[in-house]
Amino acid sequence: MAPDPLVRLDAVSKMFPGGIVGLDAVDLDIARGEFLTLLGPSGCGKTTSLRVIAGFESPSSGRVLLEGRDITSLRPFDRPVNTVFQDYALFPHMNVAENVGFGLSLRKLSGAEQAKRVGDALDMVGLADKLGARVSELSGGQRQRVALARAIVCEPRVLLLDEPLSALDAHLREQMQVELKRLQSRLGTTFVMVTHDQTEALSISDRIVVMNKGRIEQIAPPATLYDRPATKFVASFIGTMNLLQSHFVGRDGDRLRFNAGALPLEATSETGEAPGKGAVRTIGVRPEDLLAATEAATGTAPVRVSSIVFHGRTLRLHAELGQGIPVVIDAPRRAEGFQFSVGDVAHISLRRGANCPMLPS
Ligand SMILES: Nc1ncnc2c1ncn2[C@@H]1O[C@H](COP(=O)(O)OP(=O)(O)OP(=O)(O)O)[C@@H](O)[C@H]1O
Ligand SMILES: [Mg+2]
Repeated sequence: MAPDPLVRLDAVSKMFPGGIVGLDAVDLDIARGEFLTLLGPSGCGKTTSLRVIAGFESPSSGRVLLEGRDITSLRPFDRPVNTVFQDYALFPHMNVAENVGFGLSLRKLSGAEQAKRVGDALDMVGLADKLGARVSELSGGQRQRVALARAIVCEPRVLLLDEPLSALDAHLREQMQVELKRLQSRLGTTFVMVTHDQTEALSISDRIVVMNKGRIEQIAPPATLYDRPATKFVASFIGTMNLLQSHFVGRDGDRLRFNAGALPLEATSETGEAPGKGAVRTIGVRPEDLLAATEAATGTAPVRVSSIVFHGRTLRLHAELGQGIPVVIDAPRRAEGFQFSVGDVAHISLRRGANCPMLPS
């Protein structure tokens, strides 16, 4: 028999006064030692999920289990869970060591043991030399690390992080993402992080939970979410995806052939089933899976380029396929010069081997 997950949300719903749905029958298993990220637009229920796990919010219905034990009515301080809040919530009148040791001071530990644990936690986040510093003397990134040290010093089974990096600038944020991931692997602690930044979620997580309106849309590792989104919502939320209404024309083995206007596409069926001839489905096509050429050929369709956006290594073409179907193409920016201008006709085709998901309408 499979062991119980570390944390399980079992049909958890949370209704707020006025009929506002916070969570709607959420089932979620969190494994030991994983880095799980809750991702979704504002108001989708990310923070509410964390608060239910931490015990700050009690579900309207459903249960929270820890290793199979029902902890739904357990008080926050009796749960082996710690939270790092978005604003860090550090005590400004205490120095770094006092902030980190605060949680420990509520336990019966000797002074020497406390000091050792505080030192170890600060060492872990690279702030061993800031023990006596005042919080007001620290940079944003350093404060963030103090908040982390304060949370890990109590050795929680689960660490909850609510948008921990959102106050940092882009450069520091990227650096902290790497550090956070490294810290998590070193500690082996289960991390549950909230973000609305899909790039952050993709780069840091073992698994991502995509939420929408209090419900879970999909739970999967980053690459699966990117390559095989299960719904249109996930497809449009993770990266950029062209969602093309396409007619089914036939199959070659497990490849399903479609036409989006004049553009031939190939998709894979998750279930192995093909739609009926002429049936219309939404096919998801990544901009990097479309090639743009100056000449027409077999398998190409003409588009008119309406704008060109500089993306560094690539240029993003916004174009129109047939009668007003918008399509986005990422074209490599070649050293010898890019061959398209706004108003030009480009001939686009699906890159060989591209994996396009067929999405439920
Ligand atoms: N204490 C509360 N009272 C009433 N409604 C609430 C309360 N807390 C959350 N909500 C509502 O529940 C829904 C989910 O809120 P939640 O804070 O979980 O969203 P979120 O995904 O964390 O969003 P954000 O990215 O903006 O932080 C929202 O519609 C919100 O307005
Ligand atoms: Mg929130």
